[in-house]
Amino acid sequence: MKRILITGGAGFIGSHLIRLLVNKYPDYQIVNLDKLTYAGNLENLKDVQSKPNYSFVKGDITDVPFIGELFEKNDFDGVIHLAAESHVDRSITNPLEFIEANIVGTLNLLNAARSAWGGREEGKIFYHISTDEVYGSLGEEGFFVETTPYDPRSPYSASKAGSDHLVRAYWHTYHLPVLVSNCSNNYGPNQFPEKLIPLVINNIKTNKPLPIYGDGKYTRDWLWVIDHAMAIDTIFHRGRIGETYNIGGNNERKNLELVHTLCDIMDDLLGRAPGTNRQLITFVKDRPGHDRRYAIDATKLKNELGWQPTVQPEAGLRMTAEWYLANEEWLNHVTTGTYQQYYEKQYA
Ligand code: NAD
Ligand code: TYD
Repeated sequence: MKRILITGGAGFIGSHLIRLLVNKYPDYQIVNLDKLTYAGNLENLKDVQSKPNYSFVKGDITDVPFIGELFEKNDFDGVIHLAAESHVDRSITNPLEFIEANIVGTLNLLNAARSAWGGREEGKIFYHISTDEVYGSLGEEGFFVETTPYDPRSPYSASKAGSDHLVRAYWHTYHLPVLVSNCSNNYGPNQFPEKLIPLVINNIKTNKPLPIYGDGKYTRDWLWVIDHAMAIDTIFHRGRIGETYNIGGNNERKNLELVHTLCDIMDDLLGRAPGTNRQLITFVKDRPGHDRRYAIDATKLKNELGWQPTVQPEAGLRMTAEWYLANEEWLNHVTTGTYQQYYEKQYA
């Protein structure tokens, strides 16, 4: 019997990971710790909430006494740490929140794991989920590998880089058994509609402009979120302790190209004439410090652990668009209230 703490399990990637683990490992106890910020939504987990091997704890990873007590009360065998502030644009407006959640929060979890496991780390794992954005920005050529030097350029990526360094420092200094993975951009159901793909789908649905930053030639490597969850499962169970694995979709798209594809899929799904949605595209002021291109080389993960993406991009984008159209209630809930105020300020 394994007792696993997942942090940030009510968010986009965390909820897919929890669904996978709860269903695949009925003999594990999966504990979801989440603060339920604007991005955390228990509606993402409706289908697993009553499973006997799942439980939810509301709390903040920066709260030292609370986290200490949680580790004392539960003899966790593993931690998969996803809780973070995750949106680059918000990090530009409010960097301190990112330093607190992503760096201080991670440090607090590392300390709690260290003190709970001190001297009996055999079989324990602290697995930290990170991003390819820590490597900085690529030109037209080349890929990020695990040994690419860190060069974060936004407050978000700098805060994730800081947390990655701390995790590795705890491995080298205290022999805390750690794993790190750095993944490319995820897409799929349940992503908060401040991120490009769900924002575009939602705006097409409501006939609002589709804001493209700068010249639209910025490039991201998109990965189906459930493929990421499966990679995390693989690395957690079979990764070599102390190692880092890059995870990527091998699916690069320039933003404008990606938005064109989404417009065409949505024309089809909404029964609009071909080309209708592309007319909504609007070029807007660029994001400050906008990274030009991200692309992951995931050869290490493929060669060592046999993981590869399973969903082709066109199929994945269509499934995503269909999910948002079919889950209007979910979308309405997250697009009212505080999110609406944020949206109006960001795109004023
Ligand atoms: P998300 O914003 O959808 O979810 C983050 C979750 O963390 C939310 O449920 C939120 O309530 C929770 N949280 C935030 N601060 C907290 C705190 N102080 N205490 C407890 N819980 C807190 O993010 P996501 O897109 O699911 O990303 C999850 C992780 O994966 C992050 O660490 C992110 O850096 C990393 N990542 C994301 C992507 C991507 O494309 N989304 C790619 C690579 C890596
Ligand atoms: P995003 O989904 O915010 O992910 P990240 O910044 O972590 O890669 O953005 C993906 C790309 O889309 C990025 O190059 C910024 C761009 N973008 C826009 O052009 N318009 C938008 O409204 C948003 C949110 C993003």
